[in-house]
Amino acid sequence: MTTELNTVTPDDAVIELFSPPQPADPFPLYDVLMETDRVYRSPSLGLWAVTGYAESAAILRANTTRNGPRAASTMRPDWAEHEALRMYLNALITLDPPDHSRVRGLAGRVFTPAAVRALGPSIERLMRRHLDDMVELAQGGAPVDLITSLASPFPVAVISEMLGVPDEDGMHFYHVANNWSRVWAGGYYSEEDLTRADAAALELREYFDGILDERRRSPREDLLSTLVREGDNARLSPEETMSLATFLFVAGFETTTSLISAGLISLLDHPDQLELWRRDASVTPTAVEELLRFNTPITAASRVMKEDTALGDQIVPAGNLVVALLAAANRDPRQFTDPGRLDLTRSEGANLAFSAGPHFCMGGNLARLEASVLFPAFLERFSSIEVVGTPTRRDAIGLNGYEELQVVLGT
Ligand code: HEM
Repeated sequence: MTTELNTVTPDDAVIELFSPPQPADPFPLYDVLMETDRVYRSPSLGLWAVTGYAESAAILRANTTRNGPRAASTMRPDWAEHEALRMYLNALITLDPPDHSRVRGLAGRVFTPAAVRALGPSIERLMRRHLDDMVELAQGGAPVDLITSLASPFPVAVISEMLGVPDEDGMHFYHVANNWSRVWAGGYYSEEDLTRADAAALELREYFDGILDERRRSPREDLLSTLVREGDNARLSPEETMSLATFLFVAGFETTTSLISAGLISLLDHPDQLELWRRDASVTPTAVEELLRFNTPITAASRVMKEDTALGDQIVPAGNLVVALLAAANRDPRQFTDPGRLDLTRSEGANLAFSAGPHFCMGGNLARLEASVLFPAFLERFSSIEVVGTPTRRDAIGLNGYEELQVVLGT
């Protein structure tokens, strides 16, 4: 922050939140907005920033569009000339009905709770393998980058196994996917970022076109084969099936990586809670929810209103861009008692980390399962965890995670 916090206007706060680099600690800015108006229109950016829990939940369920005016406010008028933006605007997360309901219906038939449950033993095995690798890397007190050794390769390995993407391809695509996802929060990136994102999107498209064609010719016992079969039955175009497969793959690790890294930072900032989890693994279900609430991995979800809508004491006009600040809503004192306190035993009902309404996250149970398996085992395996240097945050707007997080681990 360049300005003293007590002189920050709500408009300054919105500008600060939506301009790279992301503030290391956005919560004081959320407070400024929440204290001014839980549904606040920024005159400078022309968007509505929503910080209240009830108001955010309402917007996510309201009559809105993701993609309607495709170039709405945050998108560039020349979006159609960019592979990265074209592919993002065809991804499930930006579709509107009827396409959204059709593609999501198909995704729900493939990406089922049973398919996630069946993955349990594989998740356990992959987690052990990654922890064993970390023990080796950490020998003699050598610093280890938590992101490249665990927080990203573990979820990449899980979603790769689930879909049937060869694991060695998976980690390569972690870096490619990062380049693509940088431009998802439209408008807040450089031309260089966009060039890299276009190349990344093209690479993903070619890879998934190839692997899906291969599964069409010779199906296997994997989710990609099911996706091709069900997609053809449901008359999805090959383009739609490719978009869905690519998005499931990327969504499967981008965010879980942040849950692991931001979650660990929250625990290290609250050693009493870390020790509690180390001592008592039975807190795991509420602990994972609390990490999602306290340090929400996806901080914002945007919508464009389709009709004039009453929200709080405001009327948001049709065509306006509204951003539900999920990370702020998850610390709304009207919803959570003493929300700035990390309490791994908290059980105060659902948080908004996985959004709500028609675009509600399809992978919440997978992410929860991964975190539930990983955190207790990690805390048991390493008797001390110390951050060295200053972690580098990811600077894509809306993603709360780390690029690099060096730790020294004691065994
Ligand atoms: C901690 C991990 C995760 C977090 C915090 C997270 C968060 C979110 C959020 C906030 C949305 C909705 C955004 C909006 O409303 O605009 C979303 C959508 C989605 N997520 Fe996740 N996600 C996580 C993990 C996963 C995983 C593991 C998958 C598995 C493939 C996944 C698949 C999806 C899909 C397919 C959608 C789009 C749903 C739709 O638009 O209908 N997510 N996620």
